Amino acid sequence: QETYLSNGKLIKWNAKKDEVYSTISSTQEYQPTLLGTVPHMDKKAALEVLDSACEAYGKGQGKWPTMKVSQRIECMEAFVEKMKVRREEVVKYLMWEIGKSLPDSRKEFDRTVEYIYDTIEDYKQLDRDSAKFTKRDGVYAHIRRGPLGVVLCLGPYNYPLNETFALLIPALIMGNTVVFKPAKHGVLLLSPLLEAFQTSFPKGVVNVIYGRGREVAAPIMQTGRIDVLALIGNSTSAIALQDQHPYKNRLRLVLGLEAKNPAIILPDADLDLAIEECISGTLSFNGQRCTALKIIYVHEDIREEFNKRFTQQVDKLKFGNPWEDNVKLTPLPEPNKPKYIQELIEDAKEKGASVLNEKGGKITDNFIYPAVLYPVTKEMRVYKEEQFGPVIPIKPFKNIVEILDEMADSNYGQQVSLFGNDISEIAPLIDTLVNLVCRVNLNSSCQRGPDVFPFTGRKDSAVGTLSVHDALRSFSIRTFVASKDN
Ligand code: G3H
Repeated sequence: QETYLSNGKLIKWNAKKDEVYSTISSTQEYQPTLLGTVPHMDKKAALEVLDSACEAYGKGQGKWPTMKVSQRIECMEAFVEKMKVRREEVVKYLMWEIGKSLPDSRKEFDRTVEYIYDTIEDYKQLDRDSAKFTKRDGVYAHIRRGPLGVVLCLGPYNYPLNETFALLIPALIMGNTVVFKPAKHGVLLLSPLLEAFQTSFPKGVVNVIYGRGREVAAPIMQTGRIDVLALIGNSTSAIALQDQHPYKNRLRLVLGLEAKNPAIILPDADLDLAIEECISGTLSFNGQRCTALKIIYVHEDIREEFNKRFTQQVDKLKFGNPWEDNVKLTPLPEPNKPKYIQELIEDAKEKGASVLNEKGGKITDNFIYPAVLYPVTKEMRVYKEEQFGPVIPIKPFKNIVEILDEMADSNYGQQVSLFGNDISEIAPLIDTLVNLVCRVNLNSSCQRGPDVFPFTGRKDSAVGTLSVHDALRSFSIRTFVASKDN
């Protein structure tokens, strides 16, 4: 793993390398395993990669941005066919690098392939639509969509393939050129695909950088040559990178950021269903999803029963290595995460909450057992912070108005899950909830998919929208040719 992709070439890297270790243990003995190495790039190397993307874009005159739609589609189709062949290699890295279970790793890969096919189809429709003319006041307009320029893409560790490609693929197909930086955890899994990029796209269209954000991404931003910053991750990195750009008004943003999605359990909810959905909503991939349920509001009348049965279900989840059968909880890729989660638990305990499950919060190496915390109050860190890990705060409520006010005061606004059955109560609630978040899930947990539906958020949760359809628009601009009726 000692090559990177730039200017259409897979460049052999002989300089300093970074070792990539897995924190996922294969034995009882916890021992990080060396998985491979990636180039340790510095500013100079990163700027050379940027040069290649800028040259390929050619200020809008390059081969790629001026290429026929059908040709760009051919390149993308060639890529996805080659990508499919590498499925099991990528899946293996997903398990070893980020600890995602085998079924979920395969799902991530297959979902990404589907995302590419859907993008191609939507792009074809976009092209068909642009063949039409609009006429107003004697002026004919032929409206179409054009690329924005050079895009810097940064993906997150929790979906290092799918989320990175959710930015990269629409950016590319719309005629932009791209520099992308894989996530720190989940970096090697892109290596098997570099050759497919190299052989499917023209020179310089897709380029990769490795290393720390401040050493490689920041200098790229400082040049002012990036037209779009596309990032799925945390707002600290997004703000730090935006700040580097000298021409702020020129920079477009496509950002998927933090969320604190609540579940609301009304007194008449089907508890079996609510518990099942809240288990997957809070603990799928150990809670490391921006769409995860990060707080549960349960009505006073049912909280005792809900808490008891929910905790029992948490304790039944099987922990193990990602490749073992029926494993639901796995080790965490971020070495400091268990300690951070434990700090949240301690803070909540000091302020009056209890851990409802006996094993909750116990750390074994890089695994921390999910903790169910009750009753959570506004003063606790776990109420405010996006835990992005296996700790489940539960807060009781009497009147739904309390929750609506809390959601309105939150810095986030991605999704909510609402569990209840009385339609006369639910219907008016939905009208308010859609003004607080962007997706209301009825009797089901929060999630991004299906990926053709809009994926976005209010306030600090997102900038721009990332469904297949919307992403093509986020990475392009409307242009038109006008002619007069004379
Ligand atoms: O981390 C955010 C991801 O987009 C979550 O996607 O809801 O399909 O797990 P998901």
